[in-house]
Amino acid sequence: MGGALLARAGWLPAQPGQRFATEFDPNTLEKFVDSLPVPRMATSHGSRPDPTDMMRRLAYYRIAMRQSTMQFHRDLKPATVWGFEGSVPGPTFETRSGEGILVEWANELPARHLLSIDHKIHGAEPGKPEVRAAVHMHGAKTRPESDGYPEDWIVPGKSILYHYPNQQDASTLWYHDHALGINRLNVYAGLVGMFLIRDPYEDGLNLPKGKYELPLVLFDRLFTRDGQLLYPVSGDPESPWVSEVYGNAIVANGKLFPYLEVEPRKYRLRVLNASNGRFYHLSFANKAEFHQIGTDQGLLSAPLALKSVIIAPGERVDLIVDFSQLRGERTIFESDTFVIMQFRVSPERVADDSSLPSSLRPVLRISESQAVKTRLLTLDEIDNSVGEPVRMLLNNSHWSMPITEKPVLGSTEIWSFMNPSDDSHPIHLHLVRFQLLDRRRYEPWLYRKNGEIRYLGGPMPPEPGEAGWKDTVRVDSRTITRIIVPFEGFAGRYVWHCHILEHEDNEMMRPYEIVSEREQKKM
Ligand code: C2O
Ligand code: CU
Ligand code: CU
Repeated sequence: MGGALLARAGWLPAQPGQRFATEFDPNTLEKFVDSLPVPRMATSHGSRPDPTDMMRRLAYYRIAMRQSTMQFHRDLKPATVWGFEGSVPGPTFETRSGEGILVEWANELPARHLLSIDHKIHGAEPGKPEVRAAVHMHGAKTRPESDGYPEDWIVPGKSILYHYPNQQDASTLWYHDHALGINRLNVYAGLVGMFLIRDPYEDGLNLPKGKYELPLVLFDRLFTRDGQLLYPVSGDPESPWVSEVYGNAIVANGKLFPYLEVEPRKYRLRVLNASNGRFYHLSFANKAEFHQIGTDQGLLSAPLALKSVIIAPGERVDLIVDFSQLRGERTIFESDTFVIMQFRVSPERVADDSSLPSSLRPVLRISESQAVKTRLLTLDEIDNSVGEPVRMLLNNSHWSMPITEKPVLGSTEIWSFMNPSDDSHPIHLHLVRFQLLDRRRYEPWLYRKNGEIRYLGGPMPPEPGEAGWKDTVRVDSRTITRIIVPFEGFAGRYVWHCHILEHEDNEMMRPYEIVSEREQKKM
């Protein structure tokens, strides 16, 4: 693992020019006084016709984005937040593979934004409505019109009906705002939630369920002294955008330093990194071993015993933690030097009839020979004269430039991401699932000079925890990271982007278009 990644995973000092006058140190708060909240389940309200088959009806949900207040800690004043149904994280959807649902996303937010908009950023120009929201289901296979395309935002008072067919394997998905140019602010304000898809294959594994299965939505934040969310600004009121935001405390399911009382048995934790920019390096303070059973798009082929796991913004890890060896003990779940939460294991022995099977779900590796095309795509940071980043690009292209990536529906391609920077960028493609082929260190200066690719060492295979189906992948510093992608699902326009939201908002996002074979013949 590169040094840059470690630096990113840990605390990074504020960038020069960031204003932290009211920064509050949450470490002064008493720890483990609030119990870990579990977001409530989303509930459907009747049914509506299936837009793709009028003979069928689908469960219908209405979820409103609202401003509300919540207490991040017992001793903090309530903070103003934006949440789905007013809660942060929003309600968890529990759905079944093959059973589509309809969600009406309603924007009931106020007319003024909670945080400072940078009107120099594309999509957020003066004259655009200040409050806009688009909801994207991260990891879902949906038609383009239900994907939450960044330009398909809605203003307060409006709503939009999206169809999630759920024609995909059991997995841990999540939903969040995706409005062009203000996505980082809307998510920071709290617009995130979890969406689970289950299927009979997973049911048959007898994994821990019910109260023994918990979502764990993690994000870092900065707070003002009176407990409000603080989003740093550049110091230039004309362009408040900052290139990265790191909080000084980690919030778990909406609480700072919560505790959870658990029984000495197995639990399943569905962990989501919903941070704008922070990578986590999760472990238990007592170095307890746990198992990873799944990644972004579902189960791994077999459980993986670990003592720590890295999770980049946008990624998910599905974990089984067995507390049976820790009867009567307390253990802290942490990320590097950050305390996240405490588990309090009750002393009484309990029966545990759940399983941790030795094999989970076969993940057939896609052979490189199946790819009909390989694209080399660069990740670019544009700096000003004093070396501060002013913008990030993909393949040196802006959002509004013509679409250059047009894979054919049903075909498989290799996308090679070239990252000359010192930072790791988590790259996400909408609609599809993919496999990580390898990462390989190369010489960025030589490439910049004359376009020559000189590798520094051989290809590094995916880490075992990444060897399943993914939708977001770390393109580590100074590597060429290759993924293999079957473009299955629907034709139409989607996006791919860096999941560091400050990057995504400032041009590190591009549209791509899946074309049907018929359209392709016309091209
Ligand atoms: Cu999780 Cu396009 O995003
Ligand atoms: Cu997505
Ligand atoms: Cu990035």
